[in-house]
Amino acid sequence: MGHAAVTCYDCHVVDKTSRMASQCEGLKGTKTYISPMVSSATCARCHPVEVDQFLKSGHATLASAPVVENEKFLGLMYHNEGGAFFGNEKGSPSNRSPRSTGCQMCHGTQVELGPDNKPINETWPGGVGTRYPDGSVGTCTVCHTRHKFSVEEARKPEACASCHLGPDHPDIEIYEESKHGQIYHAQGENWKWDSAPDAWEPGDYTAPTCAVCHMSGIGELSTTHNVNERLKWDLVHQRSEVRSGARGDGEQGEKLMKKVCANCHGTTHIETQRDMLDNTVDMYNQYWDRAVAMKKELGDKGLLKKDPWKDPFQELMYYLWHHTGRRARHGAAMNGPDYAHWHGFFQMFQVFKDMEDLYETRLKNNKIEELSPVMSTGPL
Ligand code: HEC
Ligand code: HEC
Ligand code: HEC
Ligand code: HEC
Ligand code: HEC
Ligand code: HEC
Ligand code: HEC
Repeated sequence: MGHAAVTCYDCHVVDKTSRMASQCEGLKGTKTYISPMVSSATCARCHPVEVDQFLKSGHATLASAPVVENEKFLGLMYHNEGGAFFGNEKGSPSNRSPRSTGCQMCHGTQVELGPDNKPINETWPGGVGTRYPDGSVGTCTVCHTRHKFSVEEARKPEACASCHLGPDHPDIEIYEESKHGQIYHAQGENWKWDSAPDAWEPGDYTAPTCAVCHMSGIGELSTTHNVNERLKWDLVHQRSEVRSGARGDGEQGEKLMKKVCANCHGTTHIETQRDMLDNTVDMYNQYWDRAVAMKKELGDKGLLKKDPWKDPFQELMYYLWHHTGRRARHGAAMNGPDYAHWHGFFQMFQVFKDMEDLYETRLKNNKIEELSPVMSTGPL
């Protein structure tokens, strides 16, 4: 099992000319250079297919983009969370801490190097889309932790749970309350986890894990490291659209995901589940479109504050999309009724009603209320 024949040298020794080459005390004076940083490019020497698929997925460049290059999120991390707005110096260690303790550990960031080619500014190690100084992208150890590099481990839902959780994408929580999660918890210890790659089939397990639906070979489908491949909708952004371009091919994605279900469920069951997801997306988009229309009218009349984080209407609109609306969509997609409803639709309508109230009051008084009544993340 694992990497019996692969040695430290295979992964950590690099050419002297590498941007990441350095020497520890023991190596000084020798011709051997090493790097503690090991990206997907190293694995690609022996696993080119997996790395190629991975690089086409959202887990690669798209994942680190918000942390590295998107002005809006740089503003969130450094200006707001990092306290630049109250005068904390931009780029100082404390200013960097929201990025380095949070966003970067899930998403990845650009690794920066000091004069000895060792990583600095807490930019390493990082999350799934980490960008390395030699231009390579991706940290395979987020699912296959070092130095085991096990398939078994990556097949378990715990491999995804360190990132796919919480108020804005509670995928592990949804899984745990789904029938599939119930069966995993009740029976999982008796499943056969170590079947050969691509040969792990129903019977080895009795309900799907995250990997089964999104990655593993099952029935006629082969294993893929492109997690976007089996998705129809974009359930992350402000308005849900069928996936296209860099985010995948939604029409194809729907077909593939149905094939996953078909290994264990009948057509009627599957079509019902797919309709429920489409209807949920439709309902969510209706809320969102109305929120956008209210915001536009308020904006046209000068009734929005410049700083959205001090403006309750805009703050609530963020929660409508980013927390409650995502929970409803993810809950519906992965069969978690409590998230679809109580943490999802129920809170969506509440948030929306409060937004409507603020909207009507502002229009009636032709002014913005003095203080934000929103208790930040309070109940959301
Ligand atoms: C199959 C490739 C592979 C092999 C073989 C391998 N490593 Fe690693 N190692 C990695 C990866 C991947 C990381 C994480 C690097 C990253 O996040 O950029 C890592 C990280 C490390 C780190 C830094 C960890 C830390 O917590 O500071 C050390 C030290 C290390 N490896 C030593 C070794 C030693 C010693 C051996 C041999 C016994 C070895 N590695 C074998 C891939 C490998
Ligand atoms: C020098 C070649 C080489 C490199 C580099 C390499 N591997 Fe492997 N890997 C192998 C071979 C050969 C196997 C087949 C199984 C074995 O060795 O036991 C394997 C198997 C695997 C498996 C399946 C293990 C199982 O439980 O069946 C995983 C996962 C894996 N490698 C991940 C990685 C990752 C991640 C990296 C980069 C950090 C990496 N490998 C780098 C040669 C390599
Ligand atoms: C280290 C953190 C991390 C781990 C572990 C992780 N993911 Fe992700 N995942 C992310 C991030 C960040 C994104 C957002 C990517 C983007 O920007 O498109 C993401 C996106 C996704 C997407 C949506 C793809 C897209 O681009 O919209 C799927 C599906 C997914 N992950 C499935 C999984 C599964 C299944 C596992 C476990 C086998 C897993 N992830 C493990 C961080 C992680
Ligand atoms: C606990 C891990 C985690 C942390 C911390 C985290 N994210 Fe994410 N983020 C994710 C996951 C997982 C997704 C994908 C959700 C999905 O596909 O539904 C995601 C999605 C996103 C997306 C949408 C993806 C895209 O390509 O447009 C953006 C933007 C984003 N996060 C930005 C950030 C920023 C900025 C921070 C820090 C201020 C942050 N995230 C902190 C895990 C995390
Ligand atoms: C999001 C989690 C995740 C990430 C990230 C990930 N893997 Fe995997 N990997 C898996 C899962 C799950 C399997 C098992 C598929 C199955 O059931 O056969 C797997 C299987 C493998 C295998 C066994 C052969 C195969 O294709 O099934 C290799 C080799 C491998 N991964 C290498 C890599 C390399 C190299 C990277 C970095 C580019 C990587 N993995 C990143 C989840 C992941
Ligand atoms: C029964 C199969 C199944 C299981 C198990 C499952 N998912 Fe999903 N997942 C889906 C379906 C179906 C969708 C919606 C796909 C679509 O749009 O057609 C989805 C959507 C997602 C998305 C949202 C992608 C986006 O648009 O932002 C993420 C992230 C995700 N799953 C991660 C996970 C994680 C992590 C786990 C385990 C904790 C998991 N899934 C378990 C079937 C599954
Ligand atoms: C490996 C087999 C397997 C796969 C693949 C699978 N499921 Fe299931 N699913 C089950 C089992 C077993 C149950 C529990 C049936 C029971 O309640 O006795 C279940 C239950 C469910 C339930 C709860 C209602 C019910 O039938 O009890 C829903 C909804 C569901 N699955 C949807 C899906 C969807 C959608 C997919 C594909 C994205 C999928 N499943 C893929 C095995 C599977």
